[in-house]
Amino acid sequence: MRKPIIAGNWKMNNTAAEGVALVEALKPLVADAACDVVVCVPFTDIPAVSAALKGSNVRLGAQNVHFAEKGAYTGEISASMLKEYGVEYVIIGHSERRQYFGETDETVNKRMHAALAAGLIPIVCIGESLEERETGKTEAVLDVQIREGLKGLDDVSRIVIAYEPVWAIGTGKTATAEQANETIGFIRKTCAEVFCPKCAEKVRIQYGGSMNAKNCKELMAMPEIDGGLIGGASLKAEDFSHIVHYDR
Ligand code: PGA
Repeated sequence: MRKPIIAGNWKMNNTAAEGVALVEALKPLVADAACDVVVCVPFTDIPAVSAALKGSNVRLGAQNVHFAEKGAYTGEISASMLKEYGVEYVIIGHSERRQYFGETDETVNKRMHAALAAGLIPIVCIGESLEERETGKTEAVLDVQIREGLKGLDDVSRIVIAYEPVWAIGTGKTATAEQANETIGFIRKTCAEVFCPKCAEKVRIQYGGSMNAKNCKELMAMPEIDGGLIGGASLKAEDFSHIVHYDR
């Protein structure tokens, strides 16, 4: 009932020319994908990659969006600037933004509202640190991130949630499929409580953190896992297309 969604997060990789070369290689490999396919690219890649993706089944995403419509926010990009180039998705609250750029649940929440108001689909990232997992705080941390980060949203069924345990990002350590499934089940249960059981059933929840061509099949076979947010393995067309075709 929930259509799986595989999204690449290029992070700060690929110039516009490199990005175009990557999506040109990717398009034929994923043209028959059964799931939604998204690439979230650096801001400066957006115009060229958007043009390169025209007519394909690969959708375009950004990696952040500011919450104001316009104004004195040096260095920021608004939702309407993204929309102008055909951006449909936007990552919000990635752990690297929280860790290095002072992103909080409050700013995540503001960005969520701005993105939704503009008709963008937010991919909101939540997840616990290693210390939080080891001290049994995972559920408490996620509970706060959901309640605060998604505060005041009237329909969560439109958004995508990426569960990314911080200790699994870029480390080669993956949560086990069972761990990821159980935690995503908890996230869904919390969404049912905070919003409504029906929207919780509809919201797509991805796993992210060292997902790759080898482990994607097992992760994606889990009933609660509706997709993946892929960093490192999204930078090569072959690797990413293997994940898009996870059930092969
Ligand atoms: P990774 O990154 O796949 O390189 O671990 C995932 C992410 O940060 O979204």
